[in-house]
Amino acid sequence: MSQYVGAIDQGTTSSRFIVFDKGGNIVSVAQKEHKQIYPKPGWVEHDPLEIMANTNEVIGAALARANLSATDLVAVGITNQRETTLLWDKKTGQPLCNALVWMDTRTDQLVQRFTKDGGQDRFRAKTGLPLATYFSGLKLLWILENVEGARAKAESGDALFGTIDSWMAWNLTGGTNGGIHLTDVTNASRTMLIDLATCDWDEEMLKHFNIPRACLPKIVPSSAVYGEIHTAPLRGTRLAGILGDQQAALVGQTCFSPGEAKNTYGTGSFMLMNTGTEPVQSKAGLLTTLAYQFGDEKPRYALEGAIAITGALVQWLRDNLKLFDVAPQIEPLAASVQDNGDVYIVPAFSGLYAPYWKDDARGVIAGLTRYATRAHLARAALESTAYQVRDVVEAMQADSGITLAALKTDGGMVANELLMQFQSDILDAPVVRPKMTETTALGAAYAAGLAVGYWANVDDLRANWGIDKTWEPKMTADVRDHHYKSWKKAVQRSFAWVD
Ligand code: G3P
Repeated sequence: MSQYVGAIDQGTTSSRFIVFDKGGNIVSVAQKEHKQIYPKPGWVEHDPLEIMANTNEVIGAALARANLSATDLVAVGITNQRETTLLWDKKTGQPLCNALVWMDTRTDQLVQRFTKDGGQDRFRAKTGLPLATYFSGLKLLWILENVEGARAKAESGDALFGTIDSWMAWNLTGGTNGGIHLTDVTNASRTMLIDLATCDWDEEMLKHFNIPRACLPKIVPSSAVYGEIHTAPLRGTRLAGILGDQQAALVGQTCFSPGEAKNTYGTGSFMLMNTGTEPVQSKAGLLTTLAYQFGDEKPRYALEGAIAITGALVQWLRDNLKLFDVAPQIEPLAASVQDNGDVYIVPAFSGLYAPYWKDDARGVIAGLTRYATRAHLARAALESTAYQVRDVVEAMQADSGITLAALKTDGGMVANELLMQFQSDILDAPVVRPKMTETTALGAAYAAGLAVGYWANVDDLRANWGIDKTWEPKMTADVRDHHYKSWKKAVQRSFAWVD
């Protein structure tokens, strides 16, 4: 008898499959990393075929680990790295090029082209987004303008555009043998091609960016039965949920009431606040985005503070500077010194996202003296995450008028106690870690499970949430102010680096 829900979590660095029970507990999990491809400074690519193969592999491994088969799952949901853009041939199933990853900055010339005529915020009222290299619509335009044959195929409907969710759903539901071509409202809201009010492709935006409608997926709710999975090892299971990963974490953290917010610490960090059934325009540099849509209920919206690089800075210290062998070693290294030795790192590797939106910023290390050691660098790296989160918390408070009583956190970096304490110190607010920190996959499972009646309603989900640990601020106001002022100075130094 079917008794669990499965979630595919296709993230920036790895693909995972997690099986959950009704209590929202993990029954089984498998994970595999994929290659990060850096052809030029600022360019980041993934191989879509590798990602699909890894996903099928982890699905098989997770099921086998718990001695389960597809018939034990009532439904499966997908959650994905957002904005990462693909165009593939409908007849062969082959991508026309590697996927352009969300943090890839190659669309900077396109951003300039469109900004010239009306400024960075000219499409904000309709799309909720500033012109920036981050979003998928301009990445698609780049492919159409630069990959041979792409435009002709896209115009005839022989090539299909999608973010990773669309690619997975199409492959899982049959691929070249009639796979369904769709994306959910949350992923669609990151293209810059939809009108937030209608949740549909917007003719004007398609015209501005010269995007052919024939290559676009159908936009569907985040929770609904889309179809049956036709490929092993999930053959016969219903695909019933799709959510961009940050929106999935919002759902996994059960932030269903307006004003409820979460912050996920992953490759980047992303804070989302539920704003209810109306999109709220940001004046403080945040994004307005779809939060989720369950079945035929009204869509819910969110304000989002997106930070491109947080956990990725730890990886960079590990892989490029070889400061330590494995990521968790950063914590004891950072804790081996009392403070940051006045060193500040601004990891503007892909420019700076919220609340600055500076495509031309690049990373800086400020405040170096002969006194600084690798331990100070490690500490400065962790602290940069906390400062960036404070930047978006301040913007969130300014836009919403709500003072955050406590910050709900999740994601890989919340295992780092030093960071969590420093986050609380620098925000001067409590920081809360829930018992279940795999909220991204859990959110996708919730969406799929709601669609098939495994969970009756959001109150069932709320009952699954519980606190693991809370950190209270301990820092004096003087020290906090000194740190944050220095951070702001360092941020200024990262601006306008690229000509
Ligand atoms: O918008 C990018 C975001 O979805 C990436 O999330 O967790 O894969 O780094 P993550």
